[in-house]
Amino acid sequence: MKVERVIKVYLTREGIDIPEERLSSIVLELKSWLKPSLEGSGIMKTQEGDFTLIHSHYGEPYHSLSAGAIRECLEKFFNPSGLLEKVQSLKRINILDIGFGLGYNVAVAIKKLKEINPLIEIEIISLEKEVPAQIPPMPKEFRSIHKNILEKLPSFEEDGVSFKLYLGDARESIKKIKDFEAHAVFHDGFSPYRNPELWSLDFLKEIKRLMHKEGVWVSYTSSLPVRKALKELGFSLSTTKSVGRKRGGTKAYFGGVDELSYEEERKLLTSPYAIPFLDPYLNREPLEILVDYRVRVELLKMAQGGLEPPTPRFSAGCSTN
Ligand SMILES: C[S@@+](CC[C@H](N)C(=O)[O-])C[C@H]1O[C@@H](n2cnc3c(N)ncnc32)[C@H](O)[C@@H]1O
Repeated sequence: MKVERVIKVYLTREGIDIPEERLSSIVLELKSWLKPSLEGSGIMKTQEGDFTLIHSHYGEPYHSLSAGAIRECLEKFFNPSGLLEKVQSLKRINILDIGFGLGYNVAVAIKKLKEINPLIEIEIISLEKEVPAQIPPMPKEFRSIHKNILEKLPSFEEDGVSFKLYLGDARESIKKIKDFEAHAVFHDGFSPYRNPELWSLDFLKEIKRLMHKEGVWVSYTSSLPVRKALKELGFSLSTTKSVGRKRGGTKAYFGGVDELSYEEERKLLTSPYAIPFLDPYLNREPLEILVDYRVRVELLKMAQGGLEPPTPRFSAGCSTN
């Protein structure tokens, strides 16, 4: 009932009238997005033999069960981030880690960078709403670094590594961060259609503010609202290798050109779903972000289908700011 209620309040407030049958399909789709992909919670073994956790509220694993936790950290985040090349030429590397979770991405980055260049200075800022009480240990290669990070939370400085975890809603925490120039952003929230507050145009704009001009943003997702938001913020995009599923992730960078397939470009240009999630004051309820998005999608579908969208006080379509 909650979905129906939020839509009703939203439509009344915005003065939008949508035909009943279209409303039913919006409700069904929203419910399918919110449905957990897994039941239960607790530690789970991935198909690669390492461990991750299932989040009971989102009904999602912290790492891909098919790709494996460590493979995901390496192949979806660390390798495409370009840090491997930068660690040879820079004295200091800054990383912005969105969704600290179990701390696996952070541990992998520190271990790999120090392995190549023991003298490298690393500064990491992590944002996380809630660190789980029970975190499975990482495989042997990363175990001592990972254990050390967890023991020293929320911050430490040692061996050339400066680490700080901001606990709380990332949308609030990010406003407090000034003067940081990330060479890499690991953007690892739960999936956009369940955890939309971490993927809005407005939140991504805050991330952009904290990036070095040669910085690279990476994520496992290739979802249309996220890619469209990145495009509207002026990033170029490429698709990263697919690991454990059909679609690859996304890498975003300044300058350069898009390196997307014809089909990916076409969808970004023509799909009614290719509009960003909006959260102008970074304080909307996640469900409200989804409802606002899905209603705007419907208005575009109606416009594309030749029907006049019923939008007296509301402008449909993509935001351009
Ligand atoms: C997929 S997990 C991250 C896994 C992590 N990168 C790792 O390597 O272990 C997503 C994380 O995003 C966090 N999260 C979700 N919404 C958030 C919010 N609004 N603010 C801060 N963190 C959030 C969740 O608590 C969860 O830990």
